[in-house]
Amino acid sequence: MNYRSVISLFALSVLLSACQPAQDTKLDEKEIKQRGQKAATALKVGLLGQLQPAMKAGGPVAALPMCKVAGPALTTAASDSMPGISIRRTSDRVRNPDNAPDALDRKVLEIFQSAKGNKAELPTEHVEWLPKSKDSKAPVARYYQPLMIKELCLNCHGAKDQIKPEVLALIQKLYPDDQATGYQAGDFRGLIRVDIAPLASQ
Ligand code: HEC
Repeated sequence: MNYRSVISLFALSVLLSACQPAQDTKLDEKEIKQRGQKAATALKVGLLGQLQPAMKAGGPVAALPMCKVAGPALTTAASDSMPGISIRRTSDRVRNPDNAPDALDRKVLEIFQSAKGNKAELPTEHVEWLPKSKDSKAPVARYYQPLMIKELCLNCHGAKDQIKPEVLALIQKLYPDDQATGYQAGDFRGLIRVDIAPLASQ
């Protein structure tokens, strides 16, 4: 091996190690996924656990205001019960503008959407490492899981002529800029996003 190729090999290894932002944090991808999965499951179970009985008892008109309150409340509750975790839901077509994606969320939304366009298999999860921060309590990674449209969701996210007029009227009153109708069962609806920070012991 000549001098030049040693230099370029060295440069390559420096470059490669720079591409592994996980390296100098104490959280590895396996742990990010474990904590992310736990948080995402808690949110899904919590949302469905509230939505299904409310829909049964009073239909979507009764469930909708609850959804407005319960969605954010549940994400806060789940975030609070798991240290170092913060959960959101986001989509490329939001109902509540507070759930709008940021630049990194948009990049991940595109990854999931292009999988759909190519008929490639939709990823079941996705991890993005965040730029390093001086704050040791700042999140180091984001864990994402897709949210898919089921029959139940069509009551409030289906085609406008499928949604009961009184439900549609309430949606339009509460969310004048709503973009989250027109879905079909099986569609990709959006993402659960879990921001994960190191625990105090790490
Ligand atoms: C009873 C009506 C109702 C049903 C049923 C419903 N949603 Fe929603 N959904 C809403 C409302 C209202 C919001 C806005 C919540 C808020 O203010 O944060 C929302 C927000 C969301 C968001 C956050 C992004 C955004 O658009 O603001 C996602 C993702 C979502 N719903 C997915 C689903 C999925 C998946 C299902 C089925 C499992 C479902 N929803 C069932 C009413 C409903």
